[in-house]
Amino acid sequence: MLTELVYCSVATQAMSVEELDSLLEQSRENNARLNVTGILLHSGKTREFMQLLEGEQECIEKLMQVISNDERHTCVDMMYHDRIESRNFEDWSMAFRMFDDLDPKLIEGYTTFNANALPPALLTGRNSRARSIMTSLSQNM
Ligand SMILES: Cc1cc2nc3c(=O)[nH]c(=O)nc-3n(C[C@H](O)[C@H](O)[C@H](O)COP(=O)(O)O)c2cc1C
Repeated sequence: MLTELVYCSVATQAMSVEELDSLLEQSRENNARLNVTGILLHSGKTREFMQLLEGEQECIEKLMQVISNDERHTCVDMMYHDRIESRNFEDWSMAFRMFDDLDPKLIEGYTTFNANALPPALLTGRNSRARSIMTSLSQNM
């Protein structure tokens, strides 16, 4: 069964370009082998990550376990996890964009990925907002 998940997290320390490159290289190699696709967003300003992963459920769950334990980030917060009919990023073992470079219209009203203090009603909205930001990026890669 094909599934998709979106989570947010915060880098433990500021990530240099070299560190991001090496993280991407490692992810792309592994994901290609696992037939996992998706996109990673990172904000240099807030140090937040947002990642969408798609693939076979078992694969995605195992990989998410590994990613959650990675000490390069913390506050891993699952936004969305559900089955999908088809992939949005089928040509990308891991696409990458800097959040700070995105079209402001796309992220309008979305002040931070990881606003833990939001009330539950807004969190639900935030979850679907997170997913719609990610999936709409697939049309501009
Ligand atoms: C924000 C973030 C996103 C990551 N995304 C992936 C990913 O998509 N695929 C992957 O294999 N590893 C990813 N990693 C790295 C894993 O946590 C882990 O270090 C890696 O899978 C280990 O690979 P190795 O066994 O080849 O050394 C990510 C790490 C971070 C901090």
